[in-house]
Amino acid sequence: MQLAGRTALITGAARGIGRAFAEAYLREGARVIIADIDQDRASNTAMELSPDKALSVQMDVTDRASIGTAIGIAESSGFGAIDILINNAALFTAAPIVDITEEDYARCFDVNVKGTLFTMQAVARQMISRGKGGKIINMASQAGRRGEPLVAVYCATKAAVISLTQSAGLDLIKHGINVNAISPGVVDGEHWEGVDAFFAKYENKAPGQKKREVGAAVPFGRMGTPDDLTGMAVFLASDAANYIVAQTYNVDGGQWMS
Ligand SMILES: NC(=O)c1ccc[n+]([C@@H]2O[C@H](COP(=O)([O-])OP(=O)(O)OC[C@H]3O[C@@H](n4cnc5c(N)ncnc54)[C@H](O)[C@@H]3O)[C@@H](O)[C@H]2O)c1
Repeated sequence: MQLAGRTALITGAARGIGRAFAEAYLREGARVIIADIDQDRASNTAMELSPDKALSVQMDVTDRASIGTAIGIAESSGFGAIDILINNAALFTAAPIVDITEEDYARCFDVNVKGTLFTMQAVARQMISRGKGGKIINMASQAGRRGEPLVAVYCATKAAVISLTQSAGLDLIKHGINVNAISPGVVDGEHWEGVDAFFAKYENKAPGQKKREVGAAVPFGRMGTPDDLTGMAVFLASDAANYIVAQTYNVDGGQWMS
């Protein structure tokens, strides 16, 4: 019970990795706000995980009013102020440089970078005025560690998340707020169905082929699962991580060393 009595807001927690984080935090004694643009799915997830300790709120991380409303609902519903934020919501996109559209660029940067920054800002303001510090965890990616030929936009957004984590981490630690990031490798789930479809199109692969290839290339021997990431998410949210500031941790089965 490393997070007993804490309240965590997790964006994009209706499914995938965010959902696994919510489940792990509940196991550790936290109350969890499942914030997602997909209200129906968020509400089902909250009901399935814990009708008492999990609350769903609709939140579009690209819309500052929506972020404020979601935080307000969380506070007024008796879940209390937010002790832990995971900026997990993100979109993936892929295309050769010559085919990237302005719409795709804007959509991906809006969710992955602007969403991370302004959700972090809104929650940090609340944490600062409360004066008890807090923990913020941003979801980066191995895609933020180096570019990939078909993935320029997504890679750039995740490099920006690593950079935002460093700047915010250095800025907010004076308030007792630890900002750190997790950098996963390849993690199985619905997200990867979309990724696989992009590669099937651009690399002329059969459906599922890219997924098998990336899984086989992981030094650990397989793709990650959302549960492979929960240990780091619990640790970074716990008191054991109080002295950890502005870091990005690879949790990727040995893919990257940095
Ligand atoms: N799956 C992987 O292989 C992998 C690898 C590296 C990093 N990551 C990162 O981990 C995080 C979670 O990945 P996942 O695989 O669970 O993704 P996912 O696509 O399964 O889930 C993303 C969630 O975000 C929500 N969302 C999308 N736009 C939103 C918005 N504007 N506002 C609020 N919610 C929104 C979606 O509804 C969805 O529930 C992401 O930041 C992703 O970039 C994933």
